[in-house]
Amino acid sequence: MPRIFAPLLMLGVLMLCVTLPARGDDVPFAQTAPSANPHGESDTLALSDVMQLTQLRHMKLWYAGKAKNWPLTNYELAQLRDTFSKAAMLYLNIPVQYIAAVSDPLTALGDAVTAKDPHKFEKGYKALETACNGCHQAAGVDFIVIQTPAASVFPDQKFVPSK
Ligand code: HEC
Repeated sequence: MPRIFAPLLMLGVLMLCVTLPARGDDVPFAQTAPSANPHGESDTLALSDVMQLTQLRHMKLWYAGKAKNWPLTNYELAQLRDTFSKAAMLYLNIPVQYIAAVSDPLTALGDAVTAKDPHKFEKGYKALETACNGCHQAAGVDFIVIQTPAASVFPDQKFVPSK
């Protein structure tokens, strides 16, 4: 390739990067805490990746609760809590009130599991959904709208009542 084309190619690649859709640095709450990333970018999960896990667990939580499988519901709840604390630790600029907004519904869901109460479970689940969407709105990603799942998307896992 003639030498003159190399810088032009670089410029083209750069311009392509600039016009790609918003991700990471463009999303207000999605910037990594420097302390979470001492060895460079690739060490850290992106917030969108942590959110994918959150989404997965959020769905499983519903299927488990609806099936009245309380040990599994409890397990998924713990997983979800863990995912949220990862998000909070990794990303400094998530305002604390949006993380706190998640903690009340999580506590309510924990109480529902202890009481084995499907009605309390549904109430807690709805409140959690509201907290998910509240943060998405505040973070400028209000096009990501969370709802109660309809049918199970995990055909390889049983969601049946516990013994
Ligand atoms: C404290 C703020 C906050 C809370 C609470 C929150 N999210 Fe998010 N979520 C975000 C931000 C910010 C993004 C965009 C991240 C990015 O693009 O880098 C996001 C993105 C997502 C995505 C898109 C990920 C993708 O790659 O497609 C899903 C799905 C998601 N969240 C699910 C949930 C669910 C389910 C809950 C509640 C159980 C929840 N979120 C609660 C801040 C939050």
